[in-house]
Formats: sequence, structure tokens, C-alpha cells
Amino acid sequence: MTEIFVHRRMRRRIPQSPSPFRRPRAGVRPAAARGGGGRPGPRRPPGTPPGRRRQTASRCTCHWRALWQCGAGHRGARRARPTGRDPMTDAITDQGRKVAAHWSTLAVSYDGAVSALREAGIDPAAARPEDLHAFDMIHMGGLAATDALALQGGIGAGDRVLDVGAGVGGSSRRFADRYGATVTSVELSETLAGTAERLNALVGLSPRMTVINASALSMPVETGAFDVVVMQHVAMQIAEKDRLFGELARALAPGGRLALHEIFSGEGELRWPLAWATDASMSALEPLDAALARLRALGLSPGEFVDESELGQRFHQGIIARWGAAADEGRSLDGLAPEVLAKRVAASRAMEHNLRVGSLRVGRLVAVRAA
Ligand SMILES: C[S@@+](CC[C@H](N)C(=O)[O-])C[C@H]1O[C@@H](n2cnc3c(N)ncnc32)[C@H](O)[C@@H]1O
Repeated sequence: MTEIFVHRRMRRRIPQSPSPFRRPRAGVRPAAARGGGGRPGPRRPPGTPPGRRRQTASRCTCHWRALWQCGAGHRGARRARPTGRDPMTDAITDQGRKVAAHWSTLAVSYDGAVSALREAGIDPAAARPEDLHAFDMIHMGGLAATDALALQGGIGAGDRVLDVGAGVGGSSRRFADRYGATVTSVELSETLAGTAERLNALVGLSPRMTVINASALSMPVETGAFDVVVMQHVAMQIAEKDRLFGELARALAPGGRLALHEIFSGEGELRWPLAWATDASMSALEPLDAALARLRALGLSPGEFVDESELGQRFHQGIIARWGAAADEGRSLDGLAPEVLAKRVAASRAMEHNLRVGSLRVGRLVAVRAA
């Protein structure tokens, strides 16, 4: 199966709101903050080729969005598709299309997030990033797991971080807000990328964050531009692993760290549905050993694997109790409608079982690129 480009045209609107991609914005930190000489000049986000500038929606007709100038390479064959074409079908594999649709349905929306804030007694206009973290992370362990990964990956002030498959941007915001990083988030689902962008703006983090709606298999970021590349709960739904990990390694600066918080296959039968897949066509699990071998082949040195399978079990037990009760009572919770809660609880039951019997594993590891 060959995954192709998914950068879609900029004229696509995010439902229920003006598209956040339409605003030109800085999203950058000064060069001095990168420790790279402090040369004054036009501001641009990390990983974006110099000399390019952001293109406004009204002028851009190419497939590259949330980006900079549409250079010559983006013309011709990559011109916009006819209006009305389902953007999800634009050169994405069946698997990628299903994955994006899956998360577009199951993740919290911007409006859902705002409702959840209000239910918690928080004025959305005064919300802080941490007010969102109860519902803006789509991985086992939530905020605690993100913090553990940030510490393991050594994310610090001024680091240029790339968060791949960022969902609605919960971990990205944490890296920017708590750890002082400048963060670029790549996300396949246009819906989730739009939510991430709007939530960044809501909590005032936009100046240090950039959201790109693109595939991890072909990221429009500059080679070697990131100190840390993060990926949480994404690889298990992408079949083209050589290409995926090749992209992650390409984005890393010499001496940079790849911080993974991922799910691996274990021994024995899987129970379905999984959190990311209702059937096998949406899943691409592999054993940890295969992932480690791939990292080494790419010239990365993997460190210790911290197995969090037991924590994962407890996480899903908590979801089943909390969201299961709300779903049974037909009420929304954490910005999710009762029918969404019910689907996520069904997946959590299977996930908890799989982690308990060892047919799934989850954990963290950091691999370092040679300096
Ligand atoms: C389980 S969610 C995790 C989201 C986020 N990393 C987090 O931990 O909150 C998986 C995310 O990966 C995204 N994803 C899957 N395949 C992708 C691809 N080829 N390129 C970019 N993102 C992808 C999905 O759309 C989804 O938002």
C-alpha cells in the first residue's frame, strides 16, 4: 500500500467556525531563542524552509496548507482538486482515510472543549492550557504520560519540538507551556488539526505553536530542523513504517531525540475494537523488537523501554468507570457526546483486556540521533 501526499487545499473550511488556517500568523520564536546566532529577520516556525512565507487562503491553490509560500514544487500536478471532492480522499490510502475519519468522530471538538470548560466552571476566555488537559490528550496515561515522556526526552526551554500525529494538540501545548518549547504539530485529520489550532489560540499559545494538516509519511518540514521529535500512539495505525520512521529521523537535528510513547503487539489474540481501529484494516501493530531494529537501521540509538502496560490497564479501567457511567445515563462528559463515550468505552474494555493478557504492550522510549 503506498501512502501519498495529503496536504490539502487551504480553502477547505473547518466546520462550525472560520478556519484557523486562514489567518496569517507568526507562530515562531526569534532566532536568538534557538541559540542559533540571533540574526534578525522574518519570523517563521521551526522546520519551515527559510525564504518561504505563509500563504493566505485566498491566494493558495495548491495542496500544501498551513504552510508558507507555495513554491514551484507545489504547482502543476499538485494543484487544487475540483470543488466538492471529499478532501479525505485526496491521495490518502484507504487506511489513512479511515484513520482520519475515525479520530474526527471520536476526538473532542472545539465546541466540545468549550462546553467542558464551562461545565468545569471555567470561563473559556480565561482558560489556561492545563484546564484543557483533562480531555485534550488521546493516549494512555494522559497528562502524566506526557510529562514522563517530556522528561525522558529532555524537552526544555527553547527546544524545537515536532509532535507527529498530534491529535487536538494536548501534548503539544504542554511541551510549549510547561517546558518552554516551540512546537510544530503535524496531524492527518483536518478536523483535529483545526481544533488544535483553535485551542492553541484560546489559551494564548499560538505565537509558539504551528499546526500543519499533513501526513506523517510526507511532512512538509525542513530536514534536521528539530531537537526533539515526539510521537504518541500513532505508529500502530500506519502500515508504511519504514517511510514513517524515515520521516521522523529526517526531521531530527544531529544529536536530536526521538521520544516515542507507542503501542506494540504482544503475544496472543487481540480483542476488538481497539481504540484506533474497529477492524484489522485500520491497524498496523508490530512487536517492539521490530521497531527497535528499524530505529537502529536508521542510525538512531534507542535507550531503555519503559513498559507502561499495567498503567495502561489502570487508565482504561478509569475510562470504563468514568465515561461508562455517563454513557449509560445518556449525558455528555469531557466534551464528548454520550454515543462517542459509549464507543470509546467499548474500545477501552477491549484495550484493558488486551493489555492484561499481554496481546498489547504500551511504553516509552527515546532514541538518539548521532551528533
Ligand atoms: C491516538 S491519537 C493520538 C493523538 C496525540 N498524539 C495524543 O497523544 O493526544 C492518533 C492520532 O494520530 C493521527 N494520525 C494517524 N495517522 C496519521 C498520519 N499518517 N499522519 C499524521 N497523523 C496521523 C490521527 O489522526 C490521530 O489524531
